[in-house]
Amino acid sequence: MTDKYWYKNAVIYELYVKGYQDSNSDGKGDFSGLITRLDYLKELGIDCIWLLPQYPTPARDDGYDIMDYFGINPEYGSIENFREFIHESHQRGIRVIADLVLNHTSDQHPWFQSALAGPSSPYFDYYVWSETPDRYSDVRVIFVDSEPSNWTYVRDIGMYYWHRFFHHQPDLNYDNPEVRARMIEVVGYWLDLGLDGFRVDAAAYLFEREGTACENLPETHLFFKELRSMMDSRYPGSILLAEVNQWPEDLAEYFGNGDEFHMAFNFPLMPRLFMAVKREDCRPVKEIMKMLPTIPESCQWAMFLRNHDELTLEMCTDEERDYMYWAYSQDRQMILNKGIRRRLAPLMENDTRKIELLHAILFTLPGSPVIYYGDEIGMGDNVYLGDRNGVRTPMQWNDNKNAGFSGSKPSQLYAPVIVDPEYNYSAVNVESQKNNPNSLLNRIKRFIRIRRSCGVFGLGTQEFLECGNPSLLAYTISYGGDTYLCAFNLSARSQCFHLDLSMYEGRVPLEVIGDTPFPVVTRSPYTLTPNPYGYFIFFLRKSQRRGDKPGGL
Ligand code: BGC
Repeated sequence: MTDKYWYKNAVIYELYVKGYQDSNSDGKGDFSGLITRLDYLKELGIDCIWLLPQYPTPARDDGYDIMDYFGINPEYGSIENFREFIHESHQRGIRVIADLVLNHTSDQHPWFQSALAGPSSPYFDYYVWSETPDRYSDVRVIFVDSEPSNWTYVRDIGMYYWHRFFHHQPDLNYDNPEVRARMIEVVGYWLDLGLDGFRVDAAAYLFEREGTACENLPETHLFFKELRSMMDSRYPGSILLAEVNQWPEDLAEYFGNGDEFHMAFNFPLMPRLFMAVKREDCRPVKEIMKMLPTIPESCQWAMFLRNHDELTLEMCTDEERDYMYWAYSQDRQMILNKGIRRRLAPLMENDTRKIELLHAILFTLPGSPVIYYGDEIGMGDNVYLGDRNGVRTPMQWNDNKNAGFSGSKPSQLYAPVIVDPEYNYSAVNVESQKNNPNSLLNRIKRFIRIRRSCGVFGLGTQEFLECGNPSLLAYTISYGGDTYLCAFNLSARSQCFHLDLSMYEGRVPLEVIGDTPFPVVTRSPYTLTPNPYGYFIFFLRKSQRRGDKPGGL
């Protein structure tokens, strides 16, 4: 495996510049602050930072509404600060990818401001216009709680413009070759500044065609292939990660023949991990994993539990969605659009066993795990903050004022820190967990160490094992002659599982977290008795020889 494929076994950490560390006490995080926290990230062991949008913005969609593709949000610092941040990250062996919002701009972008003058503007054709709101009537509205339509009327020119998200985010017109060229220029600009790639926002919606859902169109794939070939020739090693919230067969198309996206988020799997834990039943996970097509060798899934958005339930049947609402959103306030706006710890009722179990699954399933900032310490949320802001509160570093995030007045913070008793920053913070070997933070650090010490989880082939009890999620991951056995008890009770491991007869399981040898595998069923929500990750050693260990463990 050459460095070119670094993303295939990387641990990615998603963060907000605004939410990580404030260096000038104005209540918002900035690049200078973030730089001071890079040692924490290095120590955590991550390989790559995913930066949420860093561009100038009116911030009506938290930076996904861009006013200038070539600048830095002045609240975060300058281009120089950005360069320094990239340099400092690279010094520590950490790569950086950033959000790339291709589908739409802010309505405050000078292109759109000019386009509002009507067809005489040179930028009018940068956007998608219509005289009626009846075009593309087969297209769903994504932000159903706030937008009644994908069209918004501009009275002065008597026309409607097209937008897949908020009405203040007009969609760019990718049929216009100038738009395509401009956006490819944007990509080159940031890669020249040292970025290692992009998480491509809303990648499925670039083109519109009558009579279709305007998603996953062939023209969209062609554009990404063109972009990819430019990146491969001018910026080898840089990557594209697709945010495409689609069913497996449509999603897998974004890998092309290894000539489109390097990575794509595994949206179909994510809600099913939550279903499996609540139902104490591995079948939702197994069924969806079996539906995932094989992807080109150079590609990888990005595996995640939570992110900065609501826990989306778009890739669920109506029945599954109803179940998820019943299971995970007791308060109506927790529901947003087709999803649940909560962080991981509250979704798991702050039960560290369940939080750890989900991470153990995330870190061993085929793919590269993505951690959302704060989830590694079990941060809580505030569902009363509106939109998705409740999962975007300041990082909790210690029990000082403003959780050590900022020296500003508490009332000046961009969002209040979490103070509800169970998740209060005075207890839930990095400092309080740093030195406790059993803290969530240190458990997650251990998972990262295990992944880094061998290539098996990122590169291996997975096979599910059956034992007749759906509470057991079990699989092997094999690569280059090494095999790991992962067994998870999804149930709230201790269980006794009997697994047929006869194909591994003679192997000696080494439990990798405690470094504990287990009894040799024989032809008879292998008995495992995990605690409630307990799990085992075994390296199946070929012999009891000392030193027969996966590298570094
Ligand atoms: C981002 C959201 C954003 C939307 C519109 C998404 O998919 O993750 O946070 O609101 O794109 O840009």
